[in-house]
Amino acid sequence: MKNLIITGSGGFVGFSLAKHFLSNKFNVIGIDNLSRKGSINRIKILKKNFKNFLFYKCDVTNHNMLNHIFSNVKKVHAIMHTAGQVTVTESLVDPIKDFKINGLGTLNLLDLTKKYHSKSKFIFSSTNKVYGNLNNIKVKKIKSKYYLKQNMKGISENLNVDYCSPYGCSKGSADQYVKDFGRIFKMNTIVLRKSCIYGQDQLGIKGQGWISYIINQAIMKKKITIFGNGYQTRDILYIDDLVELYNKIVNKNIKGYKVYNVGGGKKNLLSVHDLIDFLRKQKILKNKPRYSKERLGDQKTYYSDLSKVKKELNWSPKISKISGLNKILKYSINNLNTLKKIYR
Ligand SMILES: NC(=O)c1ccc[n+]([C@@H]2O[C@H](COP(=O)([O-])OP(=O)(O)OC[C@H]3O[C@@H](n4cnc5c(N)ncnc54)[C@H](O)[C@@H]3O)[C@@H](O)[C@H]2O)c1
Repeated sequence: MKNLIITGSGGFVGFSLAKHFLSNKFNVIGIDNLSRKGSINRIKILKKNFKNFLFYKCDVTNHNMLNHIFSNVKKVHAIMHTAGQVTVTESLVDPIKDFKINGLGTLNLLDLTKKYHSKSKFIFSSTNKVYGNLNNIKVKKIKSKYYLKQNMKGISENLNVDYCSPYGCSKGSADQYVKDFGRIFKMNTIVLRKSCIYGQDQLGIKGQGWISYIINQAIMKKKITIFGNGYQTRDILYIDDLVELYNKIVNKNIKGYKVYNVGGGKKNLLSVHDLIDFLRKQKILKNKPRYSKERLGDQKTYYSDLSKVKKELNWSPKISKISGLNKILKYSINNLNTLKKIYR
């Protein structure tokens, strides 16, 4: 069986990847410092259900411990780096901590991949935030949503990066290191600039995972805070589609460095207002949301131009926004008691 290393295996994306690959005849070595609420529960699930899962509680800033882990695995097919400091809000509170986790943590992993597993694929979870606030691209408001100016399919990889916020800077520098290790050291590195990923098993919080946060708050009958005017939009991508993309990358012969924008694309564009409307129609939302001021550096709209990833990896999202929203809503309703314990 082939070995994979998944950092952040207790997180939403890392856990979903681990479940998939463990069920498909891979060994998974999971790494997580368990700092995010709910991560420990996910690791318990993986340990209980899969003999081929090995877990290390480890911080990605700890080079010594990572060195021990990386040097003890014989041959690694791919490293999926999903661990990270994930909110802009936290990065504003403590930019140095944010940089250590996202910047230095990623560099540690690249360094050890180069040292011990230089032929493997290194897949990095980057973000749409590397393109900055996009204030220089005109937007238009149509009904409940902001769109990019006419005829734009979405943001393509050709747009210059323009980091905004410490989170944007730390993720952006990691993104460039990953790309450059592919270029300079001839490693096989893949940067996935993800837009908004959502789905079952997600535990959204105010600063990250807005779809899951709003749905979970609504079903727990808690107050919902909306930052900005609610017209802001993202191209939402259901987790199963993202896992399918990783599957393609793992099974494909990829050489050198690649950068892809990854999201649901224009047809899966959703605004905060759209989500609120959806919950009202489902009779889930009773209270009026509270509005708070727009978050610093927040993009009014973002959707990925998926042309490159479609052409090179033959991948495009299959799960429509409406079927994805119904799936996550059903999941959250069925797991209400667990959610209440975790969000307590
Ligand atoms: N979910 C999205 O919509 C989205 C969008 C763009 C980019 N991303 C990126 O994808 C990755 C995964 O996102 P997610 O939604 O699964 O986040 P998540 O918070 O659910 O998972 C991150 C995991 O990393 C762990 N972690 C945090 N700091 C760590 C450290 N110093 N050392 C080791 N482990 C640490 C946490 O405990 C958690 O289990 C992140 O890097 C995030 O920035 C996510």
